[in-house]
Amino acid sequence: AFAWYEKMRREAPVHYDEQRGSWDVFRYEDVHRVMSDYKSFSSQTRRGADGQQSDMLLMMDPPKHKKYRAIVNKAFTPKAVAAMEPRIAEITHQLLDQIQPDKSMDIIHDLSFPLPVIVIAELLGVREEDRALFKGWSDTLVEGFSGKDESPQQLAARKQQASRELYQYFMGVIEQRKVQPQHDLVSALLAAEVEGEKLDIPHLLSFCLLLLVAGNETTTNLIGNAVICLTEQPGRWQQLARNRELLDTAIEEALRFRSPVQGMVRKAVEDIEIGGQIIRRDQLVTAWMGSANRDEQKFEAADEYRIDRHPNPHMAFGMGVHFCLGAPLARLEARTALNVLLDRFPDLQAIEGQRLELLPSPMVYGVKSLPVQLRS
Ligand code: HEM
Repeated sequence: AFAWYEKMRREAPVHYDEQRGSWDVFRYEDVHRVMSDYKSFSSQTRRGADGQQSDMLLMMDPPKHKKYRAIVNKAFTPKAVAAMEPRIAEITHQLLDQIQPDKSMDIIHDLSFPLPVIVIAELLGVREEDRALFKGWSDTLVEGFSGKDESPQQLAARKQQASRELYQYFMGVIEQRKVQPQHDLVSALLAAEVEGEKLDIPHLLSFCLLLLVAGNETTTNLIGNAVICLTEQPGRWQQLARNRELLDTAIEEALRFRSPVQGMVRKAVEDIEIGGQIIRRDQLVTAWMGSANRDEQKFEAADEYRIDRHPNPHMAFGMGVHFCLGAPLARLEARTALNVLLDRFPDLQAIEGQRLELLPSPMVYGVKSLPVQLRS
């Protein structure tokens, strides 16, 4: 994908894809513009059958978006997120305690896949005994079409069933927190108020669901991608194990170099010129952040992973009003998971000659599995 981006940045930075019937934008400056100019590029890429705006924050435009974002910001504060650090470390230790104490583990299967699901579940007040149930639902929701044993319709039906059950489950949690508030996100969301306005129940429910969809696979991939970046060159992991001051820049650079979300879609609200091309009203535009983050016009040695790169104005979490709400949590999870890994396995290494299989969707970047050697 990175070679394709490079070619497109040079030869066709704003390009109409006949097959998909939509535009692709590749340069940093243009991606920045598409992501931040919400007046021209709407996040409402789809409408409900009734023509209504979606209840999902991610698909709302201002001014509606502003109102809901302000309310959820009140509940999802950096302080509330920071308070989770000890618990995230504990969960990480528990997960690592379960691996065979021999010489290898799979970063994805054993750590980066379960960790965000457990964190979100706890944040949302899912009881421990319901966790398996909850994990089943959220796995189904993010499942891609594999084409193996079922049709796309069957997969869609299963997803619908899972989201119905999840909604029902959260309804129960909400009812319970209404009567008896606790120190958790659902209680905070119920209480959050901006200018006398609160979240109504449908919006609260779809927000809970959005957290699952937006936060799990992305964080899994961030942790996996960071481990790839740190082990693909001998010595890097060991360097970081000795000097943790580089950990924050190492994570930001992994976000830039292998962005978990490679592209986001917008819809033109009006005819608009960008990069010398005219995009027509109602046409779709994919902003390739994965390409913007490799743009040599913006980043020196853009194709090199530099562990101490600073500043690092990557757009892995988006840009503008929809800037990732979960960025502080994702960073904290990555920092905590890597710290624990570095403590316990200062000699961790890639397995030599191993070919990693990428996830099939071009919109995300991550690997299906990531076996590593724990000791040399
Ligand atoms: C929005 C990426 C983790 C919740 C976004 C957007 C991006 C993004 C690119 C902007 C979408 C747009 O402009 O249309 C990521 C990445 C993550 C991550 C790369 C991990 C490395 C999380 C986590 C959560 C979360 C852990 C929550 C628990 C959200 C929400 C939005 C969002 C609620 C919508 C914000 C809005 O529309 O105002 N994320 N995300 N994300 N993210 Fe994340």
